[in-house]
Amino acid sequence: MKLWQGRFNQNSAKNADIFNESLSVDKQLYMHDIIASVAHAKMLGTCDIISMEDSNLICDTLMEILKDIQDNKLKIKDAEDIHSFVENELINRIGSVGKMLHTARSRNDQVATDLRLYTKDSILNVCTNIRNLIARLLEISESTITNIMPGYTHLRKAQPITVAQYFNAYSEMFLRDLERFADTLKRTDVMPLGSGALAGTSFPIDRRMTAELLSFGEISQNALDAVSDRDFVAEYIFAAALTMSHLSRFCEDLMLFSTEEFGFIDIADSYTTGSSIMPQKKNLDIFELIRGKCGRVYGDLTTILTVIKGLPLAYNKDLQEDKEALFDAEDTVLSCLTIFNEVLSHLLLDTKKMRTAANGGNATATDVANYLVEKGMPFRDAYEITGRIVQYCIEEDKSLLSMSFDEFASFSDLFEEDILSAVKVNTSVNERRSIGGSSRAAVRDNIRSITRRLNKLFKG
Ligand code: ARG
Repeated sequence: MKLWQGRFNQNSAKNADIFNESLSVDKQLYMHDIIASVAHAKMLGTCDIISMEDSNLICDTLMEILKDIQDNKLKIKDAEDIHSFVENELINRIGSVGKMLHTARSRNDQVATDLRLYTKDSILNVCTNIRNLIARLLEISESTITNIMPGYTHLRKAQPITVAQYFNAYSEMFLRDLERFADTLKRTDVMPLGSGALAGTSFPIDRRMTAELLSFGEISQNALDAVSDRDFVAEYIFAAALTMSHLSRFCEDLMLFSTEEFGFIDIADSYTTGSSIMPQKKNLDIFELIRGKCGRVYGDLTTILTVIKGLPLAYNKDLQEDKEALFDAEDTVLSCLTIFNEVLSHLLLDTKKMRTAANGGNATATDVANYLVEKGMPFRDAYEITGRIVQYCIEEDKSLLSMSFDEFASFSDLFEEDILSAVKVNTSVNERRSIGGSSRAAVRDNIRSITRRLNKLFKG
């Protein structure tokens, strides 16, 4: 039975029904739909809009329906959408009393409420997963404070960095993702229930009561906006898209670092795949898939932004397209976070190779220039001289690290014996004591700061 049959003389065409339905997608909202209906029915009873007896019967039956669905005794099918399904089932079970549930409510405020409840739960779930990931990264950082690797710009060796500093960089990204989700939660935590179809309701409802029952922090203040606002869906998907971009960058880095050419990391066999033709291959398909799936979430973001663009006030059926994008973004970001975290616990670091690589490529050239600056030379001149030293190294097939003091001294009188230690990667890394720099102390501070900000977010 359709909820809106009354006005029509003809039954709708089968294909029209198939095209209109959303049950196949929004059945995922069943729990939130039922919980929201229970709150609504309780409020109707308390406000004397229906009798307390009817209210109790509706609430008890709704809870039975929920249990039957969870116990797999009731299959969600044969309805236009989840709201129709639950209401039809209620009426099947308790007859005309069930028909009172929809008093002072529309599917428009109902679906917006369900979706907000769902999104709130989902945000908490995603945030827990991101927190677990940061916790894992901090563990790795703690154990690599004294290890050194090359840092890159333009994918060329730039300056030596601390391995922990590298991993902290991703913790910072994921921390921003957490903040973004937490901020999205604020605007999601607004209850539209009670907005009716678009204009509010003439019944003496108590919106504060339903908000409290459903643990909403705020109540929407404009019914027209409330039934058609899906900004929170767009914000959620955007936050998920950026999280995916961070995962994708991380995967790209790790794949590069795992190649024979780099050899910095390896992944346990159990998380890798082989090739059907090349027996020597060990591929990191999981990382490639995460990188690929980033595109899906960008697609979901485009979907929701396009759906809400140009919609006249208030509710329009276009909005039914919001859920597929939201659920897909959710599934994708959750599955990627989970598997990525698991793979990270099987990450093997070859810190020897990292250090060897950091010693190559004249990665401490900036330190030679800085040395001269400290001895009083203007930076541009120091840069110029160091450039010539690097050129000399290339021509003579040596590196800054194998240069003798006399060789340095032939380029400038300012060089003293201590240039030989200034040019070492250890010195280079530990001299960078500025906040956020690569020195051990700065990296330790960074770890402490990440931990502090993480704890603060989860306290609030
Ligand atoms: N399935 C619909 C959706 O997801 C529910 C709201 C229907 N409202 C309406 N006026 N037809 O948006």
